[in-house]
Amino acid sequence: METLNNYLSKYKGFVFAKGETTAEYIDSLQHFEIRDSDVFLVTYPKSGTIWTQNIINLICEDATDKTQFPNNPEKMPWLEYPKGRADYSLRSSPRFFTTHLTPRLMPPGLRGKKGKIVYVVRNPKDNAVSYYHFSKVWAKLEKYKSFENFLEQYLTGNVGGSSWFDHIQEWHSEGDQYNILFLSYEDMVMDLRTAVEKVCKFLGKNLDDVAITHVVEKATFKNMKKDPKANYEFIPRDLLLKPQFMRKGTIGDWKNTFTVAQNEMFDQIFKERMKDFPLNFIWDLDN
Ligand code: A3P
Repeated sequence: METLNNYLSKYKGFVFAKGETTAEYIDSLQHFEIRDSDVFLVTYPKSGTIWTQNIINLICEDATDKTQFPNNPEKMPWLEYPKGRADYSLRSSPRFFTTHLTPRLMPPGLRGKKGKIVYVVRNPKDNAVSYYHFSKVWAKLEKYKSFENFLEQYLTGNVGGSSWFDHIQEWHSEGDQYNILFLSYEDMVMDLRTAVEKVCKFLGKNLDDVAITHVVEKATFKNMKKDPKANYEFIPRDLLLKPQFMRKGTIGDWKNTFTVAQNEMFDQIFKERMKDFPLNFIWDLDN
């Protein structure tokens, strides 16, 4: 892996958290055996990963399951950041994984529409602001002097997860090769129940109205923030300096951070880089 700075390294064009994985391990994912029942949650960082992780876990909760995981990431580990030498082939089905990887680095078996992928995208202005605040509390991320400094790095893709633009474009353009459900963070904020119903249908889970209401209730920002299995407050304080994985959970918070000049510059770059992209983005609750 090529070292980029004290916090990041790069391998095969993708930016990883430094020291958390190896080139050999990432290469080994090319031989990772996919099962039909595997479920992968794929996101660019700060797009609603832990929210969707919680929703998938709540939907797939099985009272008869004897495997007790203490929290969501234990049940749905990060594919690219194996803790120790986790041997996922020993896990019973269905297996659940979370990842920020791009299609190229994913297990090729998924391309045959084996397994399922839930992809969540978030508008990049809110995404960048969320990422900036996160960099202040995640010990292993660079501490930027200002949002301006962070934005520069974000726009060049010199952050964990690389470029937001490449991530969504690669997943979207190659989406037809996968069994994939695209969700947007904004749709989830505006109508959580419909999003939950979509995930249920995609995962083949036939939940009745009462069960769906239960999932929706547990996944609201307010309730999830209090849920020790889901809110990531269990991360030790030397890694997560402040328990702030769940910060605001809204659409349009970027307006409190972007200057007019930054916004104009961002719009210009967005227009150029996303000119052929077919999906629309929701930037605030008024549009
Ligand atoms: P903000 O920083 O804008 O508040 P990720 O899980 O990919 O790191 O994304 C984190 C973002 O998702 C944070 O955004 C966090 O508040 C938001 N989030 C987490 N759970 C949420 C929920 N139940 N409802 C709405 N937003 C949620």
